[in-house]
Amino acid sequence: MIQRPRGTRDLLPPDSRLWQGVEDAAREVFSAFGAEEIRTPVFEATELFVRSVGDTTDIVHKEMYTFPDRKGRSLTLRPENTAGVARAWIENRLHDRSHPLRLYYIGPMFRYERMQAGRYRQFAQIGLEILGADTPLADAEVLLALAEFLARLGFDDLVIHLNNLGDPEDRERYTAVIRETLSPQRSSLCADCQRRLDENPLRVLDCKVPRCQELAAAVPAIDDVASAASRDHVNAVEEQLRRLGVAHVRAPRLVRGLDYYLRTVFEVVSPRLGANTVLCGGGRYDRLISDLGGPVVPGVGFAIGEDRLVEVLPEAFRSRALASPRLYLVPLGTAAAARSLELARDWVRAGVPVELEVSGRSLKAALRRADKDGLAFVAILGDDELQAGVVSLRDLARGEQERVAVAGVPAWWQGRQA
Ligand code: HAM
Repeated sequence: MIQRPRGTRDLLPPDSRLWQGVEDAAREVFSAFGAEEIRTPVFEATELFVRSVGDTTDIVHKEMYTFPDRKGRSLTLRPENTAGVARAWIENRLHDRSHPLRLYYIGPMFRYERMQAGRYRQFAQIGLEILGADTPLADAEVLLALAEFLARLGFDDLVIHLNNLGDPEDRERYTAVIRETLSPQRSSLCADCQRRLDENPLRVLDCKVPRCQELAAAVPAIDDVASAASRDHVNAVEEQLRRLGVAHVRAPRLVRGLDYYLRTVFEVVSPRLGANTVLCGGGRYDRLISDLGGPVVPGVGFAIGEDRLVEVLPEAFRSRALASPRLYLVPLGTAAAARSLELARDWVRAGVPVELEVSGRSLKAALRRADKDGLAFVAILGDDELQAGVVSLRDLARGEQERVAVAGVPAWWQGRQA
């Protein structure tokens, strides 16, 4: 039997309803903050990610699905989407539109990850980016939209971990500080971190190996060597979060795993997922678009891992999203079956979700099935009902049955849903 590739998933009903519920909420909340959807290709030129995410990051170094197409061009399944949005900005001359532009996206990303809980090779992200504004207010707005979205899903235990990554010039100084602090312990670092110490020392602070984390604790916080401007920026973001009552803490060693960030960086972890399974990550990236050859356009945004988000959805949202009331229409006999599709059409047009019994089940078998599948409302259409222009509506939960004129069914249904 052919099986799905490792690290991919089949999303089946009823779980797909949870994903739909989450995505509906994201669209609602983000568009209420003035964002519009952007859809970019699932694959891009490999160079895009090498130049934006960074060629010494884990993502580019060992996690990309890269392949030559038939003409030998190197393409990569997108491991993230900020780079794609930046590329689209340049290519479509979005600079000519009025700024800032708020863009959101929902879609699959691909990383060749080692298999662990919460890590998939195809996973979905829900992201929001504000391009064209460099103020702390823009960062705070992005974080507010994130907090409002999470609150809409019913989360009340999530905290934003926030740090100042400084400006790129500060980073050079900081890199020297990291090398100085950690070089004497070099041989105690994991093999990856020994390489990182040469290529991109900042990444050592992001290592999940406990021994590396212990050693990294001796490195001073980046905020201590950062420019006054970047410190003021992130302090102003924090001040806004305080005013808004958005739960947040400073995480002095948070550096994120992508190279394009500066100043504000943040992550959200869920107590239910463990500290190493991040639910959402983001930050500011004012040089990304210009580094890719475009104009100087600042940006800030985040992406939430949808797979992980769905895993820890609060119970109330989960049960609301899973509930899918339908009217189960059971025609008995040939004449009723012939009429049933018309009724289904009329009721659907009037806003009643209908599930038509198309397998020819007997009334007894249909009721057994309704019970098993939680179809609490059944419309029975026998010869009798057909003659009288009515249906027998049964409410299984209340144990009631009444005959209702065919045209009165939508009103009856609305009454039951209130
Ligand atoms: P990232 O931290 O690499 O940031 O990914 C964002 C989120 O995607 C993670 O916090 C996690 O929830 C989810 N994620 C990442 N890899 C996996 C995986 N293998 N399986 C399941 N979920 C995963 C970015 O991608 C940036 N583009 C975020 C951003 C947007 N920054 C600014 N704007």
